[in-house]
Amino acid sequence: MEKWRLTYRLLKHSSNFDRRLTSGHRYLFGRTFIPFKENFRTLECPSRSYVNGASVSFARVNGNSYAVQHRYLASVASTTQRNPDFSKITSDDITYFKKILGERGVVQDEEKLDDANTDWMRKHKGSSKLMLQPRTTKEVSQILKYCNSRCLAVVPQGGNTGLVGGSVPVFDEVIINVGSMNNILSFDKVSGILVCEAGCILENLISFLDNQGFIMPLDLGAKGSCQIGGNVSTNAGGLRLIRYGSLHGSVLGLEAVLANGTVLDMLGTLRKDNTGYDLKHLFIGCEGSLGIVTKVSILTPPKLSSVNLAFLACEDYASCQKLLLEAKRKLGEILSAFEFLDVNALNLVLKHLDGLRDPLPSSVHNFYVLIETTGSMESHDKEKLEAFLLQSMNSGIITDGVLAQDINQTSSFWRIREGIPEALMKAGAVYKYDLSVPPEKMYELVEEMRARLGSAANVVAYGHLGDGNLHLNISAPQYTDGLLSKIEPFVYEWTSKHRGSISAEHGLGLMKADKIHYSKSPETVLLMAAIKKLLDPNRILNPYKVLPPSILSQS
Ligand code: FAD
Ligand code: MLT
Ligand code: ZN
Repeated sequence: MEKWRLTYRLLKHSSNFDRRLTSGHRYLFGRTFIPFKENFRTLECPSRSYVNGASVSFARVNGNSYAVQHRYLASVASTTQRNPDFSKITSDDITYFKKILGERGVVQDEEKLDDANTDWMRKHKGSSKLMLQPRTTKEVSQILKYCNSRCLAVVPQGGNTGLVGGSVPVFDEVIINVGSMNNILSFDKVSGILVCEAGCILENLISFLDNQGFIMPLDLGAKGSCQIGGNVSTNAGGLRLIRYGSLHGSVLGLEAVLANGTVLDMLGTLRKDNTGYDLKHLFIGCEGSLGIVTKVSILTPPKLSSVNLAFLACEDYASCQKLLLEAKRKLGEILSAFEFLDVNALNLVLKHLDGLRDPLPSSVHNFYVLIETTGSMESHDKEKLEAFLLQSMNSGIITDGVLAQDINQTSSFWRIREGIPEALMKAGAVYKYDLSVPPEKMYELVEEMRARLGSAANVVAYGHLGDGNLHLNISAPQYTDGLLSKIEPFVYEWTSKHRGSISAEHGLGLMKADKIHYSKSPETVLLMAAIKKLLDPNRILNPYKVLPPSILSQS
């Protein structure tokens, strides 16, 4: 009885919150926050991606308007040598590309090129003078065959939302963007298998599937701009991986074009196919270094009617871990997201993004967790979630929390989590690390980093806790070599020592090509280099990325 009163009191704070909100905010909460016990009504709301479109388009629309210090990594270009084997574009090349693609597919406009040369983080800037926009696989094949014969280096580019400098040229590489290949080719309602071209924007696929009563098995903050080809090429993780697994599981087949123009048709739609090596996996996560993905076949789950989202507070990191364990045990099959952020991340979002309010304002908490459930029976889900939340309150694992009561609240909670990268960009310089770390060790790294950097930087942590994926971000007024030397190689050494991965989901790109050895054995790296050499002997595909150039030149 005593415990219950405590629970009630703690949760009651949440109900006060909304009354203090004024109207007119973009992310206005539609109703009062209702404490768990007072009203557990579960909303039948569309899935997160559907309601959260607003945050998405920001990634791109405002992508170039941040008032941040630009640091085009001149240092990277100056330490990386342009491969002298690569040719430079001539007017004959342009004439040839126009013959294949027509005028519209050959972009030389300075403004468009400036965008395509610059990455989302505004850290990397190439100097390409040419972007090609093929409309068919045949055109991709013709372009690559020609580039290979001329030894012209290329960068495959999707929505250019990558966070490791992989999607932009380092020097004058030709940019190939398959964004014009954006047709949905087929959708089978019985199997849920979607076949589409690689340039489809993730959010468009989500909307298409929503109309069909299905969802995409992946969802991420950049959905308004990123393309499925880019997602597959980075093996993007995102917010649903805990439930639907990685793209290595969901992607059933793909079509890719090799450096010499060969079209590899692996566009199967079968769940089971054990006829030898499953080569599609080479292209999932290869970051454009082995081929250009042109079509994708992907297994999509049905859209379920009951979606709930809770925004919870924990006082320490150990409680976040306990909560994860309990959520897996008690929520079982309905758990669809488990995301965390620390108080520094929340403060950053509240400071830099408009129209957001702290959902639990009565006191400051050290950690926040978003738990989403998705199921097919509202009453069943409600009962499970209610029992889980009450137990978590009673045992002190969580100290406060609110359940979203409508689409606006759902959107607002997700906006807090998905808006962190954007808020970081607004805050100044960002040193971004995307690590897989055993969950029990994860926050130790954050604390050690804080101790190392002192007041020189704001160490911010968030991520996909349910997947053991920490996003460690160091926010500072400006980029300095002094600060960088305190962060690296420490962060990589620490991760390696704990048998983690220096890239959980963003890839290696340019940023971490020469750091691969922290996560892969020398033998593995050599085999990767041999595969690269076999598929792309002239190394024209996304040079200087993924593998250290020094290893490629040896092998
Ligand atoms: P790009 O950025 O254009 O390219 C990424 C890489 O893929 C490059 O190496 C490029 O050469 C290659 N590539 C692109 N298209 C093709 C193709 N058709 N064929 C071959 N190679 C290709 N990532 C996550 O994993 N999880 C997240 O939760 C997440 N959230 C994000 C939130 C924000 C706000 C932002 C800005 C980024 C986020 N990302 C996340 C990173 C990024 O969105 C993903 O890596 C995404 O999959 C990249 O897709 P894209 O189309 O933008 O590819
Ligand atoms: C996220 O989970 O928000 C993305 O991976 C982007 C980031 O790490 O900043
Ligand atoms: Zn992420």
